[in-house]
Amino acid sequence: MTRESGGAGENRESDEPARRPVRTETAERVGVVREAVESDVDAVVEVGRRTWPSAKAGLFDDDILELMLAKWWTPEATLPSIRSGRTLVYEVDGRIVGMTAFGPHRGAQVVWKLYVLPEAQGLGAGRALLRTVVERADELGDDVFVGFHEGSDGVLGFLGALGFTFDHREAQSGLPDLIWMTRPCEGALP
Ligand SMILES: CC(C)(COP(=O)(O)OP(=O)(O)OC[C@H]1O[C@@H](n2cnc3c(N)ncnc32)[C@H](O)[C@@H]1OP(=O)(O)O)[C@@H](O)C(=O)NCCC(=O)NCCS
Repeated sequence: MTRESGGAGENRESDEPARRPVRTETAERVGVVREAVESDVDAVVEVGRRTWPSAKAGLFDDDILELMLAKWWTPEATLPSIRSGRTLVYEVDGRIVGMTAFGPHRGAQVVWKLYVLPEAQGLGAGRALLRTVVERADELGDDVFVGFHEGSDGVLGFLGALGFTFDHREAQSGLPDLIWMTRPCEGALP
C-alpha cells in the first residue's frame, strides 16, 4: 500500500518538536501512536519486511518484490524519515506492530508507507496511524493523499472507511496502476 518512495518528500528534515503519544483503544488492547526514534529503526523495517511481501503477493513478480524490499525496507532507507519526525509507529505492550511514513509533497501531505503486521491487522492500528497523519495535516491546512497499487486487497475499503475518496489513477510502467485517494483538509484556511 502507498507509493514506495524515498524521495524528497519522505526524507526532508523537520524542525518540529516530537509530539506526545496518542493512546487509542482497539477491540482487544490499548495501543499507542508515537513518533519513531532512531532506535526503532529495526522494528520499523521488520514491519515492512514482514507485511510488504504478503500485501504485494500476486501484484508483482517475485524478483520485483525482492528488488523493492531491498530498496525501501532497509535501515538506510528508513532512517531519514525517522530523523525528520515523519515516521509514526503503533505500539502494543511495548511492541511496534504498525508504522506509517508521510511528508509534504506538492502542497499536500502524502502517506508514503502504511503497514500493520499481519497478525495485528483489523484491530484499529491502521486507523489510529492514518488518523494521526490526518490530524497533523489538518493543523497545517493540508489535504492528505494515499496511493496504493490497483488490486491491493482491502485497501479501498479501509481508506473509504476513513473518509478517503478517489482522486486519480497513475500509470506505472510494468506494474499495476497506482490509485490515489484523498481526504480534503477540514481545517483549511480560507
Ligand atoms: C491496510 C492496513 C494498513 C489497514 O490497517 P488495519 O489496522 O488492518 O485496519 P483497521 O483495523 O485500523 O481498520 C480501520 C477501518 O478500516 C476498515 N477496514 C479494514 N480493512 C478493510 C477491508 N479489507 N475492507 C473494508 N474495510 C476495511 C475497518 O473495518 C475499520 O473500519 P471500522 O472501524 O468502521 O470497522 C493494514 O491492513 C495493512 O497493513 N495491510 C497490509 C497492506 C495490505 O494488505 N495491502 C493490501 C495489498 S497491497
